[in-house]
This record gives sequence, structure tokens and C-alpha cells, in this order.
Amino acid sequence: MQGDDTPVDVSTLLIVGLGMIGGSLAAALKANGYRGQILACDPDAGEIATGLELGVIDAGGVELAPLVARSDVVVLAVPVLAMRQVFEQLVPLIGERILTDVGSTKRRVCDAAREAFGYLPTNFVPGHPIAGSEKSGVAAANPALYRHHKVILTPEADTASSAVAAVRTLWQRCGAEVLEMPVDRHDQVLARTSHLPHLLAFSLVDTLARQDERLEIFRYAAGGFRDFTRIAGSDPVMWRDVFTANRDALLAALDDFEAGLARLRTAVEQGDSDAMLGTFDRASHARHYFETLLNQTSYQTMEARQVQYRVSPGGSVSGRIRVPGDKSISHRSIMLGALANGVTEVKGFLEGEDSLATLQAFRDMGVAIEGPHQGRVTIHGVGLHGLKKPAGPIYVGNSGTAMRLFAGLLAGQAFDTELTGDVSLTKRPMARVADPLRLMGARIDTAEGGRPPLKIHGGQPLKGIDYDMPMASAQVKSCLLLAGLYAEGETRVREPAPTRDHTERMLNGFGYKVARDGDLATLQGGGELTSAPIDVPSDISSATFFLVAAAITPGSDLVLEHVGVNPTRIGVINILKAMGADLRLENPREVGGEPVADLHIRYAPLKGIDIPVDQVPLAIDEFPALFVAAANAEGTTRLRGAEELRVKESDRIQAMADGLTILGVETTVYGDGIDVVGRSGEAFNYQGGQVDSLGDHRIAMAFTIAALRASGSITIDDCANVATSFPGFVTLANKVGLELTEASA
Ligand code: S3P
Repeated sequence: MQGDDTPVDVSTLLIVGLGMIGGSLAAALKANGYRGQILACDPDAGEIATGLELGVIDAGGVELAPLVARSDVVVLAVPVLAMRQVFEQLVPLIGERILTDVGSTKRRVCDAAREAFGYLPTNFVPGHPIAGSEKSGVAAANPALYRHHKVILTPEADTASSAVAAVRTLWQRCGAEVLEMPVDRHDQVLARTSHLPHLLAFSLVDTLARQDERLEIFRYAAGGFRDFTRIAGSDPVMWRDVFTANRDALLAALDDFEAGLARLRTAVEQGDSDAMLGTFDRASHARHYFETLLNQTSYQTMEARQVQYRVSPGGSVSGRIRVPGDKSISHRSIMLGALANGVTEVKGFLEGEDSLATLQAFRDMGVAIEGPHQGRVTIHGVGLHGLKKPAGPIYVGNSGTAMRLFAGLLAGQAFDTELTGDVSLTKRPMARVADPLRLMGARIDTAEGGRPPLKIHGGQPLKGIDYDMPMASAQVKSCLLLAGLYAEGETRVREPAPTRDHTERMLNGFGYKVARDGDLATLQGGGELTSAPIDVPSDISSATFFLVAAAITPGSDLVLEHVGVNPTRIGVINILKAMGADLRLENPREVGGEPVADLHIRYAPLKGIDIPVDQVPLAIDEFPALFVAAANAEGTTRLRGAEELRVKESDRIQAMADGLTILGVETTVYGDGIDVVGRSGEAFNYQGGQVDSLGDHRIAMAFTIAALRASGSITIDDCANVATSFPGFVTLANKVGLELTEASA
């Protein structure tokens, strides 16, 4: 045996149990240049002979002790129920060697080790590669079996970290992604994602086969049967062992499944079309989501993908494009559509991650929603009191809008809910909605400092309030108006400056009167919403990146079609015009209660300005791009009164200042704003460099367009969240003339 510190890729590895799984590990290591010896032990001498013949092992035998003596790392690849016996044999043999296993249930394996050793050895690293095949035996060894698959390790607190690191390296060498989780969590997850489907496949095939002894029926079975039952061809003994070993978690999963099946049975029996559609839509959507994950790696967890943009310097932009639908209106279309009586047809819906999360949340609360298919969504409204308690927390991803609007809407429900989101959202302030909602009678718990998650206690009678908002926020205003639908009496919200009024417009469009008197919006609780068609215009916030791209780049001439130009959203147009941009609104019209126009922009030299404070709330999401405009304008642009920018998806003042500094642009940061010293009239106004978007979609897109006037390429880290608001951004940017490539890790 070599010393403890033998690097794992030259150590001698012993695989105990040379079947398809153990054989594939050996084959994968060999194929990936593993420099150590690979031994195998198996009671079946024939398997050892085959392993040697195939060249996947270097030596082997049926006797454990001499093989253990020669090895540094021992991998148990025997069936789960045989582990106990092997552990017992290993007690006098294992010493300081690293021990790991590949068993698909971890509690049972750990208990077996504990029983044999009297404790859990600290050099034992329980493991489970999530990969398999219906084939068995070393002859089926596949060197690619673990590539892009996950391997879950379930070490205990006192497991030696050097042993964990060695096992991790071993699997990574096979191309696997290694992650860690507690034993019980592993068993529950696998019971649902692997053991239950196998049980169902075995059961279905057996049931059908029994009904037709001569198996005639299978002659007529097509793709559906084949897809659903492929795994019923798996090794019966192994699965008997798995089901036995993970009995409790499997039974819990089966209970949930049976309850779901019973619900579906009732729906079919009663011809309940909404219930069937609701279930199938949810499932179909979830399956598509799974498919997109699968395309990245199998068993991908929910952690964010790492996406990096690289933008070549120079170029100009031209053409006619349509950017995706408005995010604010898309969220609201689903919310109000779900709460309305009747069916709401939505066109132009933004199929971005944020609005899709909202859509999924309503499916989870029992609303049947068809689509989205190319921006079309059909919502079968359930009325203000028709939502059902979701099975778990509502996950709103990256979206502050969703969390704040949901808070108001859910405060009025009869059931409890919990709102959660991604890491960025978890840092954002929610007291701004929780406090006034409490004044209305809601019961809401937040995490420390008023942060998410929000626990909302249902069944609280709400009463209308008269509220002066301390900040200009459409999200807070909308939250309170939505709670006001459920409140007794009048809810009155006063804003310190005008903010986007999509909620008020859409409520009025759904026949629910919201009165406007200067800075005051008022509604009376207890009414009803009636469905109405919604045509979502293109998002002016997404259009902004291309407006600024054209505004700063000589030779540019671009038309952005069908952009929403609601007066509460056109700060960017006013500011760009004040800076000297050649920007025209063409073909103005009104669509579904919202003004829309085509925006035609050509290059013209820009000059720095003091941004009027009254424009700040009207351009609140557009500042990252506007700072890029400022960097390309003659003189200094000054922004004040914009402290709200510090609590967006990132601290947008600091994030932009940091990135601009890297490019060599001079900025001075203030608590509520920034000065950007611009340049104009030269080929390049700043250099290239590598900047961090901090996971903020708008920071990522702002630095993308900055490359048009940079002397070198710009690399932008952490861009996956562009998909929250602007799916297809990379394609569209390249279409108009940017040179942008995307790399994911
Ligand atoms: C939004 C309101 C704004 C904006 C956000 C969308 C909305 O937030 O920044 O992207 O849809 O109501 P605040 O209300 O916090 O200013």
C-alpha cells in the first residue's frame, strides 16, 4: 500500500463488485488517463476474466483480503443489501485506506457500515453516481457513463476532508459533476426522481402483461409505451434491494403519487376539463423545464448557470427589430387574468424567467394556464377567491416585482403561503410592502432586516388604508392596490412622484375601477374582475439597450417596433432627447389600453446633462444603459435623487461605477446618484476590459452595448440572468450588428 498522501490519480484502486457500474468506473478512469492500477474483486471469476479481457482492470480475483492489501482506495460496487457483509469482511482489512461506495440508497449503506464497524469510519465517503443503464455485467461497462452526470457524496461532519477530496477527484476524472448533500435528503430526492418511476414502470408492464398472458397486447404498443416503460427492463434483484433499502422514503413518494393519481382519476371521471388541463399544463411545463436542464447536464440542480459574454469592440447598429414583451405588464397579465372571472387571452407575453416564474406560481395555486406559445397565453381565471393553497413555497426567482405584488395579493387569501426567490432577491428590502400590509391587517413574517422569504398568514381580514408611500415605487403601489381588492373599504395610495401605472390601467381594463386624483390612486374592496384580452407591447426597458447602442455609434440607424410608450415609462426617451439624441416616435397608437409606437433612432453626438429629478422614476430601470450613453457624451452627466437604484437586482450605481472605472471612464459616486464624465467625437471613448454584472441582467446588457465605442473587447461575467427579462438578447444583438458571443460553464 502506498502512503496516505498518494495522489489519487496514481493510487491503486480496488473495485469490489465488478458489474456494469463498477466496470464503467474502471473503464472511465482508463479512458481518461488514470495512471494508477485498477484491481477488481468479484465472486464471479467469469466477470473478472471479462474485465481483464476488455482491459478495464489490471488484475483481479475472488478473494478480498489480498486485493485490499494492495490497494489505496476501495470502491464498493455491490448491491446495497450485500454491503453489510462486505463491510464486515473489511473491518480487519481497511486500515487507513479510503473507502467509498456507489449504492443508490445512502441511509441503508451508512447503517450497514455502522453496524459492521461499530461506528462510521472517518475515511468512508458514501457516494452515488446518478447514472445507469438497463444492462448489467462488466461486459456492459461504458467509459462515458458518468460524463456530464452527477455524483452525490453524502459525507458526515467528521468524514475526513482529504478522503472526500480524493473521492471527488476520482469522479471528476470520469467527467462527472460532484455535489454533496445530507444522507436523508439524498434518499428522499432519489425516492422521487428514480425509485418511484422504476416502481411504476415495473408495475405497469406487469399489470398489462398479466392481463394478456400471451403478451399479444405489446404488439400494438408504440412510442408512448416504450418511453414510459424502458426502465422496467432493469435488473430485478438490484431494484428489489433498492426498494427494500429505501422503503420509507419510497412509500412517502408513493403516497403522494397515489393522491395525485386519485385527483386525476376524479377529474377524468367527472369530465372536469379545467382540472385535467391544469394538471397536464403544469406537468407539460415542468417537463419542458426539465428538458432544458437536461440539455445542459443530466440531473442538473437549480443552481444558476455561469454565463459569460464577450463583445468585440466597434461596429454600428441598424435594422428593424422587435424586442420581447414588457416584463411589468406580463407579470400583471397573469396575476389579473388568474383572479378574473372568465378566460383571458394574452398576446406578446414575455417568455423570460421572471414572468414564467409568476405563471408557474399560479399553476401551483390551481389556475389552468395554456401556453406560452410564441407569446400567447390563455388563462382560465378562477375569480378573486378561487386560488388554492400551493403545495410548497412560491418561488419567484429573481423578480422583486413578483415578490412584492404577490405579497399584496396573497395577504388577502384564506390560506398561508411562503414567498422565496434567488440569492439576489433574498437581499432585497421587503419591509416597504410588509409594513403597510400589516397596517391593513395582514400577518407577514420576514427574515431579518425585512428580507425574504416572506411568510404570509392567510385568513386575515384586511381593511383599506390611506397610505403615503415614502418612496416612488410602482411595486409598492401595486402591492397595496392588489391587497385592496380583498380589503374592506377604500385603499388609498399616494405616490411622491408618478410611477408606472400598468396595474391601474389593467384593473380598469378588467372592469375594476381605480380612481386617480393627482398623486392619489384609490380603489374600493370587494368587487370583481372580468377577463379582457391583453396585448403586451415590447418592453421599453429592453428597447433601451438598443436605443443607447444606436445613439452612441456613428452610422447607426435603427427602428424598434411596437414599443410601449406609457407616459410613466418614457423617462429614457426624454433624457436621451435632452442629451441630443436623434430619436423619433413613429406610428403612435393605443393597444389594449397602453400607448405604443415605433422608435426610430439615428446616431447624433450626445452631450452630458443634469438629469431632471422628475424623470428618475420614469426611467428607473434604464439608468445602467443611460450611464453608458453618458460615457459617450461630451461633458459630465449628473444624476441625483436615484437612491432606489441601490436596491435593484444589484446596487446599480456602484456596479456601473465599478465597471466603467475598469473601462477607464471617470465617475464620482454619491449616495443617491453619480457623475459620469463622458467623451465624444473620437473613434474610441474608453478601453475594453473584464467587468462583473453581479448577476444583474441590466448591468450585463449595458456593458454589452458599451463595447461599440471601446478600443478593446469587453468581457462580462455572470450574465445568466439576462434570461429573466430578455430571452434572445444575444441573437438580437448580433442581428443588429454587435459581435457578441456567449460562453457557459
Ligand atoms: C416595476 C417597478 C419598478 C421597476 C421594476 C418593475 C413594476 O420597481 O424597477 O423593474 O413592474 O412595478 P420599483 O417599484 O421598486 O421602483
